[in-house]
Amino acid sequence: MGKFFATVSFLCSFCYALTTMAGNNDVIIRFEEVSFEHGHNKPILKEVSFSVRTGSKVTVMGQNGAGKSTLFSLLTGERKPDDGKIHVTRGASIAIARQVIPRDELELTVRAFFECRFKEKVYDIEPKIAKVLEVVHLNAPLDRIVRSFSGGQQARLLLAAALIAEPDILLLDEPTNNLDKAGIQHLTEFLIASQKTCIVISHDADFLNAFTDGVLYLDIHTHVVEQYAGNYFDVLRDITARVERENRKNAQLAKSIQENKDKVNFFAQKGSKMRLVAKRMRDKIEEMEEEKVDVRREDKTIRPFVIPVQDGLGGDVLTLSSVRIIHDHKPKNKSVKVALRKNKHLLLAGPNGIGKSTLLESIARGTCEGATLAKGVTIGYYRQDFSTLNFDHTVYDELKAVLPREDEEKIRSTAASFLISGALIYTKIGNLSEGQKGLVAFARLVLERPGLLILDEPTNHINFRHIPVIAKALDQYEGAMILVSHVPDFVKHIRIDETLELG
Ligand SMILES: Nc1ncnc2c1ncn2[C@@H]1O[C@H](COP(=O)(O)OP(=O)(O)OP(=O)(O)O)[C@@H](O)[C@H]1O
Ligand SMILES: [Mg+2]
Repeated sequence: MGKFFATVSFLCSFCYALTTMAGNNDVIIRFEEVSFEHGHNKPILKEVSFSVRTGSKVTVMGQNGAGKSTLFSLLTGERKPDDGKIHVTRGASIAIARQVIPRDELELTVRAFFECRFKEKVYDIEPKIAKVLEVVHLNAPLDRIVRSFSGGQQARLLLAAALIAEPDILLLDEPTNNLDKAGIQHLTEFLIASQKTCIVISHDADFLNAFTDGVLYLDIHTHVVEQYAGNYFDVLRDITARVERENRKNAQLAKSIQENKDKVNFFAQKGSKMRLVAKRMRDKIEEMEEEKVDVRREDKTIRPFVIPVQDGLGGDVLTLSSVRIIHDHKPKNKSVKVALRKNKHLLLAGPNGIGKSTLLESIARGTCEGATLAKGVTIGYYRQDFSTLNFDHTVYDELKAVLPREDEEKIRSTAASFLISGALIYTKIGNLSEGQKGLVAFARLVLERPGLLILDEPTNHINFRHIPVIAKALDQYEGAMILVSHVPDFVKHIRIDETLELG
């Protein structure tokens, strides 16, 4: 069985922690005091309890690295809880569209990629593959290698792979990453029409609000899942109101406590008769102290940052006279006229699969035939799949590698401004959550001081609260920049001097 797919049949024996539920037709999934840690001292869930109703559409929210993808891996049975129980209705099958395609599956053919969703050989798999590829609007020859597909096409393959076994419960981990507008629209329509129970992790508020009716909020501070009814915006409003309410209550209590303390001091000085009164008041103060509530801590946002530009940059940084695009699965040259100077921002636009990432990669590698790069220009390259990061390095080593000489203070403070602090800086990149990898990639750009900045879908996986901060940093970047992004709401906050439409 493929690693990122699990059909959880409750007749089979592996589900020691996944117990079957009978008698409650309404609830399909129930977590009962589930706890989970990644190794020692990396708590993700602490006695988490919640339930999901059959046929409901639920969003999972939470900070990058809170443990949303981990929660999914507990549901599929890929990981086991340390404590507590996960109940799933008898016979209900689960399939997951993972956040990214695991590296070892990138070398498979399309046919093999789908075959490994099934435990046993399926003889009539071709019509099944054709059916799900049609659902996700992808034309994919069965012998093509998964790696050769664009990011948006791989997102469609992930979704199709989750659909092929016709599961009762569909788990989607950031399904809109890399999808163009048409792809998101199509996925939204599919989810609205679907009768299945769907649990979706995404930071795209408009997408989520179109179909979800409840939210599970995984709090990175308390490691508890809060359950809310309503959509994404309702929840944000509820949380803000709750924090204000809790702060107000504590402020009132603090005021009364102080008044009582002043009175205690006054009575205590009045001799023995008054001591009893003072004691009663002290008891009252203790009661009020206990009434104080732990205010819900807001998720953190990354600090505003600047990507400094390489010293001594001048003239044309990059010129493009022709680019290679993909048309009907075949490469084709297209003449263009682009001269990127310092402080010029170019947006590269076009539908999924036209060849945007391939073009960016060839420019970064210096293999693009129609491109001329000025001598000595440092390229800062933010890749869609983070493969410019060495997954075996720790965050510290990865950041150290781009500095001319080691500067521990600088590395630590830069990482901390992207919320990579404490033990996390010694974690291997490969063990970070996808959003954390993205934040490390930005920290690296800050230390790298590029003259040419190449950004391929820099909002993928990143928590919504960081996105305006990133947009501002890119808007103010003073070197030459090429940007690919399918998120208009992000792009509109960044100065774009020229758009190259490849479609
Ligand atoms: N195999 C692992 N070993 C150690 N730590 C891990 C491992 N996998 C994940 N983690 C850590 O567990 C935490 C939760 O990771 P997870 O991928 O579940 O987060 P997430 O909420 O899905 O984040 P994102 O929004 O960035 O996708 C992170 O701090 C991550 O570094
Ligand atoms: Mg995740």
